[in-house]
Amino acid sequence: MTGRLLIVHGPNLNLLGTREPEIYGTGTLEDINALCRAAAAEHGLETEFVQSNHEGVLVDAIQAARGSADGIVINPAAYTHTSVAIADALAAVGLPTVEVHLSNVHAREPFRRHSYVSPHASAVIAGAGANGYQFAVEHLADLLRG
Ligand code: DQA
Repeated sequence: MTGRLLIVHGPNLNLLGTREPEIYGTGTLEDINALCRAAAAEHGLETEFVQSNHEGVLVDAIQAARGSADGIVINPAAYTHTSVAIADALAAVGLPTVEVHLSNVHAREPFRRHSYVSPHASAVIAGAGANGYQFAVEHLADLLRG
């Protein structure tokens, strides 16, 4: 199989490793990217990564995925709970998408239980830590294989 996955990381995920490690673990964003790269390579898929603390940059990256990627893994971080723009971008490109959260957002503050992104995701993985990204890549590989 050939194909390309876009892995999108939202705000503050650049601080992984030092950011609230009791919630998000001690692995860095680069560790997560390496995990994604390896999981994707197992299925012959290439990966492309973007992290931004700016909503519009994430919207631009999702839009650019149309025509250049076959699937999206996204942890929208805090924008999960606020961003109609990111939800609209995912709907517009219509690529198979998996939403990932390191923490179990349903076991935390009530405002984290609502996601604007979930209606546009074929799967949602929360609370599995960094492994969630690997599961997401495997799910997309299954979908793309058909
Ligand atoms: C998060 C959960 C969000 O509620 C939070 O704003 C994040 C990270 C997670 O991966 O658990 O920044 O998406």
